[in-house]
Amino acid sequence: MPRRKPRATKGRRPTKTRARRPAVQVVRNAHPITLTVNGKRQERRVEPRLLLVDLLRDHLKLKGVHVGCDTSQCGACTVIVGGHAVKSCTMFAVQAEGADILTIEGLGTPGRMHPLQVAFKENLGLQCGYCTPGVVLAAAALLREHPSPSEEEVRVAISGNLCRCTGYRDIVRSVLSAAGRT
Ligand code: FES
Ligand code: FES
Repeated sequence: MPRRKPRATKGRRPTKTRARRPAVQVVRNAHPITLTVNGKRQERRVEPRLLLVDLLRDHLKLKGVHVGCDTSQCGACTVIVGGHAVKSCTMFAVQAEGADILTIEGLGTPGRMHPLQVAFKENLGLQCGYCTPGVVLAAAALLREHPSPSEEEVRVAISGNLCRCTGYRDIVRSVLSAAGRT
């Protein structure tokens, strides 16, 4: 088969090679922060604008911290900071200086699940699972303060967490069934 003639390049400008992005990005105005995440001390230098959710997901590789809206509406990014449920997309990493943080990765292990995780499994409290880490942590923060909450208190505690699958009934049932077991 005859080989094609190369296309004429006369008069055309040679293609420039694009400059590559540096593999390591320069962190401007970096602030040193120290915090404890899932029982482990962490020290990092971060930009003041870095969100806590991005510190957890991108720097510490805790991908169980989900991002749904990034605008404080869905609750997928909920973690426990100093005992309280917090939407980590609403907080800067530098604001977590010195804090004790719990993400879903620190709640239980596959071999030894937390009672809430067991209850969600038994009561079909999840379907796609996208909202689940945030809902479970919001519930965990509630049960720490109120070990035997009413259904109303459970519904209020998880009211900042949106679920597109379950219709909430089985989530509430799961939390109530875990009450007293945590
Ligand atoms: S991602 Fe934080 S509230 Fe939706
Ligand atoms: S289980 Fe799918 S969004 Fe809640």
